[in-house]
Amino acid sequence: MRIEDPKLLTAFRELDVQWKPAVSLAELTYLGIGGTTDLLSICRHEAIPDLLNLLDGQGIPHKFLGGGSNLLVIDGELPFVVLQLADHDPDVVIEGNVASVDAAADLGRTVTFCAKHNLGGMEGLIGVPGTVGGALRMNAGAYGTQIGSYVREVKLYRAAARRLETLRGQQISFEYRHTSFAPDDMMLSVKLELPSKPYPEILQGIRICNEKRRASQPLGQKSAGCIFKNPPGASAGRMIDELGLKGFAVGDARVSERHANFFINAGHASAADMLALIAGVRERVRGAYGVTLENEVVVWNA
Ligand code: EPU
Repeated sequence: MRIEDPKLLTAFRELDVQWKPAVSLAELTYLGIGGTTDLLSICRHEAIPDLLNLLDGQGIPHKFLGGGSNLLVIDGELPFVVLQLADHDPDVVIEGNVASVDAAADLGRTVTFCAKHNLGGMEGLIGVPGTVGGALRMNAGAYGTQIGSYVREVKLYRAAARRLETLRGQQISFEYRHTSFAPDDMMLSVKLELPSKPYPEILQGIRICNEKRRASQPLGQKSAGCIFKNPPGASAGRMIDELGLKGFAVGDARVSERHANFFINAGHASAADMLALIAGVRERVRGAYGVTLENEVVVWNA
């Protein structure tokens, strides 16, 4: 979708919003899949309500992009514009046991920055790609750690109320890969309260998680992490593997040989290929186990 109205472009400048025309989402997502649209980069949180009123007033559909690590975007000219928070420097500030982190901050870098200040707890999250905001929205987790456990406070744009709000950790429910945030809420920053731990001890935990991940996940390849959520008491990866589907492909979209719940873009996969692969595998699992796997990956298809 293209924004060409000069009045709108002037209004963006007044709100410190940078307009980047014709951006390829394939270049902004870990899967390397997705069509083209205009991107609006937001420098000031306070400008968000005015920006969204402006877009809504003009009937311009929009979606919020985090780090693009858990996202599958359709092909072609996209029927919406994309909003993204600009990077802030510094994006992590530590006071005592509390790290105040910008939502646009890289999750892995945040874990190591806190570690260097002798704040631990998040070792399991090392290697989970994406931003802190993205991790927060879906309560990212790995190796027994989930980010929600450490949240003291979240600043967000509440789409329903059309304003910025600050929520205390207890006001938010964090479940397995799910939170009480609305789908169109936009994470802006978070205060994480972390346990004190000596840096060498945290580093040891980080090394162990890195090794486990390297041994079991296809790290160097284009993927969105796990495609499906694990159904209660079971492993989607194991089910897909047991059906002999490793290597099963539609075009260049392929079930990883390393971990069957990771689907790889092995070359020039289209969104249509990846969606067909997801549907095909879901159907095979449903037929064999009677379980309908739910997407973990977020799909932008309209
Ligand atoms: N397994 C297989 N074949 C496979 C993959 C896994 O037999 O191809 C078996 C493993 O041997 C193991 C069991 O299935 O016995 C579980 O596998 P794993 O330990 O790899 O964990 P997972 O349940 O597949 C979850 C998260 C990952 C996270 C790891 C480590 C989900 C959907 N996945 O994977 O998160 O990194 O645990 O904590 O919750 C993600 O969210 O994108 C993600 C990758």
